[in-house]
Amino acid sequence: MNLAIIGTGYVGLVTGTCFAEVGHSVICVDADAKKVEMLRGGGIPIYEPGLEEMVSRNVAAGRLKFTSSTAEGVEQSEVIFIAVPTPPQPDGSVNMSYIESVAREIADCLQSYRIIVDKSTVPVKTAEKVAATIRRYRKSQVDFDVVSNPEFLREGFAVDDLMKPDRVVVGVASNRPVAAMREVYAPFNAPLIVTDTNSAELIKHAANSFLALKISYANALSVICEAAGANVQEVTRGMGLDNRIGSRFLQAGLGFGGSCFPKDLHAFIKISEDLGYDFRLLKEVQRINADQMERFVKKLEDTLWVLRGKTIGVLGLAFKQNTDDVRQSPAIDLCHRLLREGAALRVHDPQAMEKAQGVLTGVDYVSDMNQVADGCDALVIATEWPQFAQIDFARARKAMRTPILLDGRNLLDPARMEELGFIYKSIGR
Ligand code: UDX
Ligand code: UDX
Repeated sequence: MNLAIIGTGYVGLVTGTCFAEVGHSVICVDADAKKVEMLRGGGIPIYEPGLEEMVSRNVAAGRLKFTSSTAEGVEQSEVIFIAVPTPPQPDGSVNMSYIESVAREIADCLQSYRIIVDKSTVPVKTAEKVAATIRRYRKSQVDFDVVSNPEFLREGFAVDDLMKPDRVVVGVASNRPVAAMREVYAPFNAPLIVTDTNSAELIKHAANSFLALKISYANALSVICEAAGANVQEVTRGMGLDNRIGSRFLQAGLGFGGSCFPKDLHAFIKISEDLGYDFRLLKEVQRINADQMERFVKKLEDTLWVLRGKTIGVLGLAFKQNTDDVRQSPAIDLCHRLLREGAALRVHDPQAMEKAQGVLTGVDYVSDMNQVADGCDALVIATEWPQFAQIDFARARKAMRTPILLDGRNLLDPARMEELGFIYKSIGR
């Protein structure tokens, strides 16, 4: 099929590329001309495992193209996916101006029947508003359908999540676009759920909020485990093996971040409030997440006593492993807190150093993860990059001024670290 994706970011680029990979013909549209130029030249603006080869393979096969012209995308495609950002506003509501302006752009160049799909995470009733906008701004009485088809991609695993989805959700206002949507997703062999548009939009916020709730539940348990002398990893493993609970998203740590969970949670609370419901359960999920960071900084203070004048090594800047994304990263938040307390920082991330430099200044960026510890009073693990477990900690211990190791992601084995002579503290163990 001929498909267009408007917005070629973390979501749009992976979605478009995977659609091309299964044989569709895809045009990726982006308002940022520099990004389009880079993509046309074979460059990739983000780090996402497996993406680069997939992009070049599909470009070479002629199935994947890039343009900054919305008209070109709309003209040549049966289905048009909108994947532009929906950033949060200070009150938790979502800034819908990008979606609205794309809806107007589409209306402007609509000449025959098209299916317009919201892929971005949006508040309930957005599909209705997008449809009303297109109806208002279209040049003639041309027909169209608006579909809600939320994304469920985890950064760092986005290609896999898209190629092997657990389910595909398609929210429609009529049956007309269903067959085409089935055709788009047929190669992925996943259960496809057809709902009304409002339900589809709610599924996305409900799913992300529930996953955030699972993480906060594990983090709350970590507090109890520390107080009781238990091990949160054993407790969550014992829980998670119950199929009704499931073992994923029960990792206690520094808390969740990223461009989705914090924003979606905040938005869902606001949407619920607007609908007349005080979603206190989700407010508690947020509070537990914020407390987790406070408790971690306090743990560091309790160990070092005074942070001012201390040198602290921070391993990890991305909001999670396998990505270069630092949006709402707990690791960056931690760095800012430590800087405010007067500490000097030596930091490293396997992929996110470049993006971090845009939001974190006044720190020492260290290119070799093994040298971060050199001369430090304490070393902190802030992101769950698995390669941090391969650091030569015997060497690190010798290179440090004082051997204090705080593991915010429970990545290392406490017994081994203590054997090496570290004062080692982690979360809920
Ligand atoms: C996505 C979703 O769209 C968002 O709703 C979800 O909650 C998180 O993931 P993401 O792909 O992470 O956003 O955004 P980003 O990487 O910033 O990419 C968005 C792209 O859209 C950028 O390349 C930007 O240039 C482009 N854009 C933005 C347009 O093409 N037109 C616009 O009007 C605005
Ligand atoms: C999330 C959703 O998982 C995905 O379906 C989509 O809707 C976009 O939002 P993403 O934000 O890319 O994906 O990453 P995810 O893997 O969900 O991790 C989010 C945050 O939670 C990270 O900061 C991560 O470190 C943290 N996390 C995750 C935990 O603290 N514990 C866990 O057990 C899992």
